[in-house]
Amino acid sequence: MGINRIDNIKDRILKKDTGILASFFRLTSKERKKIIEALGKEGLEGLTSIIKISNQKTFEEHHKNFLKLAEGKIHTPVYLIDEMLIEENMKILRYVKDRTGCKILHALKAYATFATFPVMKNYLDGVCASGLNEARLGFEKFKKEVHTFGPAYKDGDIEDIIKYSDVIIFNSFYQLERFGRIAKERGREIGIRVNPGYSDIKTEMYNPCAFYSRLGIVFEIFKKRYKEFSHLIDGLHFHALCEQNADSLGRVLNSFKNLFGTYLKNLKNLKWVNFGGGHHITRDDYDIEHLIYLINEFKEKYGVQVHLEPGEASVLNAGVLISTVLDIVENKKQIAIIDASAEAHMPDVLLMPYKPFILNAGEPGEKKYEYRIGGPSCLAGDVVGDYSFDKPLKRGDKLVFKDMALYSIVKNTTFNGINLPDIAVLKKTGEIKLIKRFGYKDYLHRQS
Ligand SMILES: Cc1ncc(COP(=O)(O)O)c(C=O)c1O
Repeated sequence: MGINRIDNIKDRILKKDTGILASFFRLTSKERKKIIEALGKEGLEGLTSIIKISNQKTFEEHHKNFLKLAEGKIHTPVYLIDEMLIEENMKILRYVKDRTGCKILHALKAYATFATFPVMKNYLDGVCASGLNEARLGFEKFKKEVHTFGPAYKDGDIEDIIKYSDVIIFNSFYQLERFGRIAKERGREIGIRVNPGYSDIKTEMYNPCAFYSRLGIVFEIFKKRYKEFSHLIDGLHFHALCEQNADSLGRVLNSFKNLFGTYLKNLKNLKWVNFGGGHHITRDDYDIEHLIYLINEFKEKYGVQVHLEPGEASVLNAGVLISTVLDIVENKKQIAIIDASAEAHMPDVLLMPYKPFILNAGEPGEKKYEYRIGGPSCLAGDVVGDYSFDKPLKRGDKLVFKDMALYSIVKNTTFNGINLPDIAVLKKTGEIKLIKRFGYKDYLHRQS
């Protein structure tokens, strides 16, 4: 690409012209780097802000489209994944890579629908896996780097984990001692997970730094034993965020640096530090500039590469769960029973717990007609929540639950023998491609 064309793109970025973003994202990484280097602090902040504005606009348009699609003939329940919205998220992640040179690995635990991997792999370095099956899926379907962390590996799995992984991260010195040498002999990089000593996560269930956490070597033990293993260690890993902004990462990093900072220099082979997942990078209010600052500062201070392994951020708001109202019953309230289950199809609604957003619905009291929405299982608590609507709900109406690509398909169950929702992908062409419909056999095979 000629210098003039690059200058032209740079000038339009400086004028905050969102229309130039498509051309910017089509550039090669070398060309994007050139522009980024030429923009200066203010220009870069401007670029971040136009990326965010254009991203928000695309998401709003597509969510209106989900409502239209739901009105049409669509088999429910269905997780409908929007390929273009995943790509919008990917562009933001790659922009963070462009600005920092960090590695970004998609966390398969959050989303592993490999039908959309062809879009994702163009933007990321690879995946992070939680054990053998995810490592193998990443190896076979993502076909880029696989970094595996598991709290404790089994003897019988380790050969295959080594086969499918480029990087293996251990949760204790015992596991490192048991499996580290063989992984190293096979040319794999080795990391250990440490407890950074601080997390902002308030829900104990999701806090890897809570009292008695089994996740990550605590500083007192690290300090005593790291020297024995320093020749094996290529990287340190921590994970202490959950749906958080960059200010939380800043506080975790401060604690990590205070505890482990001086030791990083003693680890002679140290190549990288992995900041884990939980970075909500693609959320509207996420402070991308602060994240970029924190990564760049860390890289400069310690002279190591930084890895991030977000899961949610990859597919945040990029998929919905569409369901149909099967019946409406009454018990002091109007209660709509739908063909999707909170317990079986959106388990985090009950576990986190949280109340998912239904497109075109409001909180109770906000709109004229109020309903409790519940699932088709026998569980009394299979309730999604209370909502209000502009019009009375009818049997056969469709409800569209927002942000249902993450931690849903990977976690759902066939409790009560209820069928799993279809998986469909909304292609960039506008076509809906049914990827999978589940039936009796899927239920049967899981029982015995
Ligand atoms: C070690 C590790 N890495 C990455 C992730 C992905 O986190 P998220 O999907 O919140 O970004 C998790 C989530 O639990 C995790 O435990």
